Amino acid sequence: MNESIAEILFSEESIARRVNELGARISRDYRGKKLTAVCVLKGAAVFFADLVRKISAPVEFAFITASSYGAAAVSKGEAEVSVPAPFEVCGKDVLLVEDIADTGVTLSCLRERFLKSGARSVKICALLNKPSRRRVKIEPDYVGFEVEDEFVVGYGMDFAEDYRNLPYIGVLSRSVYEE
Ligand code: PRP
Repeated sequence: MNESIAEILFSEESIARRVNELGARISRDYRGKKLTAVCVLKGAAVFFADLVRKISAPVEFAFITASSYGAAAVSKGEAEVSVPAPFEVCGKDVLLVEDIADTGVTLSCLRERFLKSGARSVKICALLNKPSRRRVKIEPDYVGFEVEDEFVVGYGMDFAEDYRNLPYIGVLSRSVYEE
C-alpha cells in the first residue's frame, strides 16, 4: 500500500462490483433511450471509463472540466467550469458522472447549466457521496458508496494532482495535507 494512505476504503474488486451494479441499473432506467454521459474532469475520468462500458443503452460521450478544489484541501465554494470540446445538450438525456458529491456546489452548478441549455433530463451518478458536507440541496440519482468526511484519493481522485492512478480508494494520511 502507498505509504501516504492511512486506510483502504474500497478495494479494486469492490469498486468493480459496484460499478457493474450501477451500470446495470442505469441500463434498465435508460432502456430505449440514448444517453449523453458527461465526464466531469479530471476526478471522474477513471470511473467514467469503467462505468460507460457497463451501460448497455447507447451512450454519447462528453467531457467538461470543473474544479472546486485546485491545490487546496477544502472546496472554494464555487466551481470553475470549462468545456474542452463544445457539445449540444438541447433535447438530450444527460447523465453527469462524478467521482464525488461533496459540498454539491459543482454538481448543482453543472445541473443548472445543462437544464438552462435545454437538456431533456439531467441525472447524476456519483461514485462517492459525502452527505455530511453538503452546502447546497442536491442528491445524486445513483451513488456508488456513502463516505464519511475524510480526505479520499485514488481511482481518479487526487490531492494536488497525485494519487489519481491508485486502483483503490483510500483515506489520505493527515500528515500529507497538514504539512
Ligand atoms: C472534485 C470532484 C468533484 C468536486 C466535488 O473536483 O472531482 O468535481 O470536487 O466537490 P463539491 O461537491 O464540493 O463541488 P476537484 O475540484 O478536486 O477537481 P478534479 O476533479 O480535477 O480533481
